[in-house]
Amino acid sequence: MTVRIEPMTDGDVTSVVAIDGPTPMSDEQLRAELLRPWARSWVAREGPDVVAFLVVWHVADELHVLNVATRVDRRRRGLARALMGHLVAYGRAGHVKHVLLEVRRSNLGAIALYRALGFFAMGLRSRYYPDDEDAVEMVLAFDVETGEIVPHPDEVKLPA
Ligand SMILES: CC(C)(COP(=O)(O)OP(=O)(O)OC[C@H]1O[C@@H](n2cnc3c(N)ncnc32)[C@H](O)[C@@H]1OP(=O)(O)O)[C@@H](O)C(=O)NCCC(=O)NCCS
Repeated sequence: MTVRIEPMTDGDVTSVVAIDGPTPMSDEQLRAELLRPWARSWVAREGPDVVAFLVVWHVADELHVLNVATRVDRRRRGLARALMGHLVAYGRAGHVKHVLLEVRRSNLGAIALYRALGFFAMGLRSRYYPDDEDAVEMVLAFDVETGEIVPHPDEVKLPA
C-alpha cells in the first residue's frame, strides 16, 4: 500500500501514542508538542492508518529529534528511513546546520538507521533514561552552503 508522509494533527494523537517504543509519549505530552510553535511532527500513513511518526524541535539552525517510531507490525519496511529522509530534506531546505538526537545505547537498530543517513556518534550521556540506560548523542551535520551532509568519524566508540 502507498505510504504518505503528512504533518501530524490532533486527530492522530491516539494512534501515535499506541505505537510502541522504548520511550513512549503520553497523550498529554504529544498534544503539548503539537502546540509548541517550534515543534514539527509528521506521520506516515497507509490509507487512513498511522503506521509511523516523527517528532522534532526546530530551534534556530538546529533540529532535535524527540521521537521516531514505527508500528510493530510495520517495521523493516523503510518507514522510519522515509520519515528521517523527509526530515533531512526539510533541514536542507531550511538551511539547518545540525540534526541532533539521543538514542539508547542498546538500540542498535535505530543506531544503524541513523548511521546509514549520515549521523555520527558525538558522545555518551550517562544514565540519561529513567531506567538509567546511557544515551548516545548522534549528530548529522550539513554544509550550509551546499546542503550536503558532511561525513564525520564517530567521537565515541560504540558496540558493533
Ligand atoms: C528504530 C525504528 C524506528 C526503525 O523503524 P523501521 O520503520 O522499522 O525502520 P526502517 O525499516 O526504515 O529501517 C531502515 C534501516 O534501519 C536499520 N534498522 C532498522 N531497524 C533495525 C533493527 N531492528 N535491527 C537492525 N537494523 C535495523 C536497517 O539498516 C534498516 O534497513 P534494512 O531494513 O534495509 O536493513 C523501529 O524499530 C521502532 O519504532 N523502534 C522503537 C522506537 C525506537 O526505538 N525509536 C528510536 C528512538 S531514538
